[in-house]
Amino acid sequence: MPKVRKAVIPVAGFGTRFLPATKSTPKEMMPLIDKPIIHYIVEEAVNSGIETIIFVTGRHKRAIEDYFDYYPELEQVLKKSGKEEEIEKLRQISNMAEFVYIRQKEQLGLGHAVLTAERLVGDEPFAVLLGDEVIKNKDYPGIRQLIDVYYQFGKSVIGTMEVPREDVSKYGIVAGKEVVDGIKLVEKLVEKPPVEEAPSTSAIIGRYVLTPDIFEALKKTPLGKGGELQLTDGLALLRNKEVIYSKDVEGLRHDTGNKIGYLKAILDFALEREDVREEFIKILMEKCKEIEKG
Ligand code: G1P
Repeated sequence: MPKVRKAVIPVAGFGTRFLPATKSTPKEMMPLIDKPIIHYIVEEAVNSGIETIIFVTGRHKRAIEDYFDYYPELEQVLKKSGKEEEIEKLRQISNMAEFVYIRQKEQLGLGHAVLTAERLVGDEPFAVLLGDEVIKNKDYPGIRQLIDVYYQFGKSVIGTMEVPREDVSKYGIVAGKEVVDGIKLVEKLVEKPPVEEAPSTSAIIGRYVLTPDIFEALKKTPLGKGGELQLTDGLALLRNKEVIYSKDVEGLRHDTGNKIGYLKAILDFALEREDVREEFIKILMEKCKEIEKG
């Protein structure tokens, strides 16, 4: 079976939910403590065996390219103050993987973003990770869980999680038959259905492993929700040709694409960081007392 070596990460979106910050900073560059969100996503891919990261990028996203590049001027300054270790740490970010960039010239949807990467992916299976979800699982990274299912069956795999019924209209929803613990053979896929039309409460999270056949399917997929080319619709078409699996991803998922989710993620990451944990807890406790007093 061919290895899953490449990951596509679409990062062309405007991030309108975080305006005005995203007027000049890509949403993927917003920090969780001192690392941008995109760093955690790339780390997840790299820790899962991915060697090449293909960013499908857009206007105003130069900061992402700079982040994964060397920074000689800064290195010189750090060298002068004897901060060799810091230099090494910064270089490691660029050395994590091979980074490739392609511009999505028009914002025509997630399916279109994936299709934009076709030539760079070539004829091999690949991972897709969406930049506004961070999945925490140190021992078994989210996308690795899907790659392993791909190695088991040799077919596309969609990452899922159960959501409350009232939330189904925010996600792509899949329904299917369980074949092994937590792994389903997909029978239905619908992008953001109204509650009454949802075939299940199994929601697509932003993690996929896809066979290259998805490209032909996407080319035949009509525009869907919001007048966009939806990846979910492309997968529904692909399913007519070959089977697709879904797997509930294990780990703590943070939806950093909305304000509350982002704040929760910061809280969670801060509580895990030895250098800030203790002081941060003190501040939190004080704040809680203040709030209780009213
Ligand atoms: C996209 C997908 C959707 C999926 C979601 C996960 O939607 O189209 O199927 O459930 O990501 O975050 P978006 O949130 O980009 O609108």
